[in-house]
Formats: sequence, structure tokens, C-alpha cells
Amino acid sequence: MIKIPPQQVDRILIFDTTLRDGEQSPGATLHIDEKLTIARQLARLGVDIIEAGFPFASPGDFAAVQQVAKEVGTEDGPIICGLARTTPEDIKTAAEALKPAVHQRIHTFIATSDIHLEHKLKKTRPEVLAIAEEMVAYAKSFTEDVEFSPEDAVRSDPEFLYQVLERAIAAGATTVNIPDTVGYTTPQEFGTLIRGITENVPNIDQAIISVHGHNDLGLAVANFLEAIKNGARQLECTINGIGERAGNAALEELVMALHVRRQYFNPFLGRVPESEVPLTQIDTQQIHKTSRLVSNLTGMLIQPNKAIVGCNAFAHESGIHQDGVLKHKLTYEIMDAQSIGLRDNQIVLGKHSGRNAFRTRLQELGFELSEQDLNRAFVRFKELADKKKEMCDRDLEAIVKDETQSQVLGGFRLERVQVSCGDHACPTATVTLCTPDNQELTDAAIGTGPVDAVYKAINRVVNVPNRLIEFSVQSVTGGIDAIGEVTIRLQYEDKIFAGYSANTDIIVASAQAYVNALNRLYAATQQQSPFSSSDSDRLTEQTVHA
Ligand code: KIV
Ligand code: ZN
Repeated sequence: MIKIPPQQVDRILIFDTTLRDGEQSPGATLHIDEKLTIARQLARLGVDIIEAGFPFASPGDFAAVQQVAKEVGTEDGPIICGLARTTPEDIKTAAEALKPAVHQRIHTFIATSDIHLEHKLKKTRPEVLAIAEEMVAYAKSFTEDVEFSPEDAVRSDPEFLYQVLERAIAAGATTVNIPDTVGYTTPQEFGTLIRGITENVPNIDQAIISVHGHNDLGLAVANFLEAIKNGARQLECTINGIGERAGNAALEELVMALHVRRQYFNPFLGRVPESEVPLTQIDTQQIHKTSRLVSNLTGMLIQPNKAIVGCNAFAHESGIHQDGVLKHKLTYEIMDAQSIGLRDNQIVLGKHSGRNAFRTRLQELGFELSEQDLNRAFVRFKELADKKKEMCDRDLEAIVKDETQSQVLGGFRLERVQVSCGDHACPTATVTLCTPDNQELTDAAIGTGPVDAVYKAINRVVNVPNRLIEFSVQSVTGGIDAIGEVTIRLQYEDKIFAGYSANTDIIVASAQAYVNALNRLYAATQQQSPFSSSDSDRLTEQTVHA
């Protein structure tokens, strides 16, 4: 019989780590305003816990966690969590950043696998046991709600894992999280590990069992579902599955699996199969818009066939399928597109729409803009509405993202771009940029194509070494008057920076996307983290005892 802690009651807690582990995706770095926008939307989505960042990693991370704690960590809002290694400095900094939140959680971690102990921590098992116990107790001196993670749990000796968990719970951990840090486990194996924990950790009934997993083998969601069947009651996941390397378990996939297959999962939570009570408190109708928002702000495109949120997820191409669906939806559909908030009629605004309608629709899409940003976006909207008859949600998202991104990033500003190209011309570009200290500089270059020429001309002005590693242009909607969205990634040393822009002129969008990425790079070099990387998984643990 699985021992389920009393607090684990009868539903699954959703711990969203889009702003922490998700932000560790190469190039997904978010500005503080963008993090706040996502955090507000996560609260609307109904997540139980938001892991808002890793406060000790950099002053920027600290400020973002503090701001999320202040604005989203309200009485009826989610728990706001900050990550900390098992060091007093990390824990104290996390506690400080979380102070404004009504419900605060400190999440502290130390690795427990021999491979990590030997090569990364250079510590013995007894030392790790002592650190875990001492630092959980220290975290507890700041907040009642402490989560402990034995990093690389899946590759740890289960007997040692049980001991660490027992000591952490005895020291006050209220949630114990079992990470598959390297995305190595398989569903049955993970289920057995979770069951082993419920059977061998004597005080497990005083903590909630959580799971955290990476998707290196594409198994993260399946592993979590098996973990639920064996006693896990908290799932650590990200929107669109973004995160370190191949990403984390995708929130939307987990939530919809539990929603669509409720009858199957109900008995594992002590319910009758027919129970209609939702297994999570997620408002599934917010899934689509949250997914779009995160994709827009991180620049991480969603593959068309991605489960739940890919643009093909509800599209039926084959004649047989279309015929079946028209006769009866259930022939080929296991869930309704509306259940994730997809609306049939996407056309919402036109050139006669007013500011109020514009603001309301943006709010519905998850964007809360300041008066200033709203005004700017509205001007862009009107300009575009003159060129394009029909404006759908994707157009609005593109405008807002483009306008607000350039504003929040600051740095260089694109003033003018002009190209000359064609099958008998040598592609030539002239660009004018305004520098961070307000100097207008113009330069020109030739290239293999118009975009190459523009980028070379910008490089001549900005003069920051970088390597363009990805360039993508997508049409936001169908039609010859569609907006083109440009997403790029560039590399500087070992870091990747993304840039995005949207315009009916794809050369202008390409230039602006490049300037946006360069501005992220510029901001990062202005505000260096105390670590060489913001990636906690790759950080070397400091010790309290050394
Ligand atoms: O993957 C991992 O192990 C983590 C921990 C910090 C929970 O992200
Ligand atoms: Zn992780």
C-alpha cells in the first residue's frame, strides 16, 4: 500500500518552472518585464507554485524573483518559489527575494549521485547528508514551506537517497522533489523509484513527493504519469516543455493527459473512476494563450506537430479523417480544441476598432501593457490595420511582442534600413542605428543577399563579435499581406541570445530582430552574473563546511 502524506489529499499540484529551468534553455533569456508578464499568465492558468528564478545567480534574477513575489504572490495567488543551492548565501538571498510574497517557498538542492559527489562536489556521502540536513533547517528558519531536491536522484543509490530524504524531511522539508536531472529514466523504472521512496523513507508521510524530469529521451511526461500512479503528487514542468537541453516535462501535456484520461487516473488518487472533479486546478482554457505567450517572449518556436499546442495538433489533413470528424467529432478527436482555449473565429479586430477593444483583447491574450506601451502598440496596430484588412490574435501578439521587446531591451535602436537587391544587383544595405548613448551612426555593406548585407552593415556599427546560428522567417497568417515574424539566435562566447521582430516587410523585421538579439547580448555583458553560466544544473556546488 502506498503511503500518501495527509497534505497530498486528492489532487495533483502543478509546480511551474518555466521562469527558472525553462529560462535555462539556450537563448531563452527573459527580461524582468517579460518574466512578470509570464508570471501573471501562469497565475491565471492556475498553477499552484511558480518557481520564479534562482535569486543568487545574478542581480537580474534576484530582481525578477522579488518583482514576481511582489506582484503575483498575493494572498489568493500561487506560492512563489526561489531556487537555492545548499549554501547559506544562496538560501538567505532566496529568502530575501521572496519576502514580498504572501506564500513563499525556498527550493534547495544538492546532488546525491556518486558521479556528482565524486566529480562535481568532491564530497563524501556523510558530508552531503549533513549539508542537506543543515541547509534545509536553515531554509526553514525563513519559511515554513521548504522543498528539497537530491539532484540526479535517478542515478543515485536508492538506499542513500532514502537516507537523504529522511534527514531532509526530519529537518523540515515539506516537499521532496525527485529529479531526473539528465533525462535518463524510463516510466516503469521511475515509478518503481517513487514507490521505493514511499515504502522506505519512514517519515515520507510528512512531505509531498514531487517529480522533476528532463526530456533527453522524450520520456519526461510518461515518467511523471507513472510517478503519479506510485505516489507523486507534485509535477515540476514548463510551458511548451522548454528547459535545459531537450527541455522539461511539458505542463500542457501533463495537464491534458490528466484531464482527458481522468477516469484512468482517478483511482490512483483514491477516487472512483467516474469522478468529474478535476485532477489539477489548471484552467485548461488558458493553455493555448499561455503557450503562445511563452513562445513569443522566449523566441522558442513550437514545432507544428507538438502535442496539445502545436499548430497542427487539432488539424485534420487526410480526407478520411476530415470526413469522420465532420460526421462525428469523436471519430478522430480525443479532446476539443476549445478545451485548451482555441477559438474557431480568430478574426477579432480591424481598422475601425478602438483603443478599448484593442486593450481588452490584449488582456485576454495575457498581455498587461503600461499606458505607454499600449499607446505605442496601438499606433502600430492602426498602421498595420491600414495595410491588412483582417487582424487576428497572432497579428496582435506579433505587434505587441515586437513593440514591447524593443522597449524593454533598450540599448541600440534601429532608425532606418534600406536595401537594394535583385537578380542583377549586388545586395547592398544602409542602416542607421542610435547607440545607447544617443549617437546616430550610419554604415553600409554588401552581402550575399539582402539580409546578409543588412547584418553586415549593423555589425559595422555595433561592433560586437557574434555568430548567427539560427535565422527563421515565418508568416504569421496566410495571405500576401501577412506579417512576417523573424526569430534569430546568435552566439557570443558560450551564450546564446535570441531576437524576434515582426513586420510586413521582412527585411525590416530581420534587421530589428538582429538588433534585439544584440541588445540582449549587450545587456548581458553589462550585467555579468557571479557565475560563468546562469544554468544551475551546471553550477558547481559550494559547500557550507569547506
Ligand atoms: O534538473 C534538476 O535536477 C534541477 C534541480 C535544480 C531540481 O533542475
Ligand atoms: Zn532541471
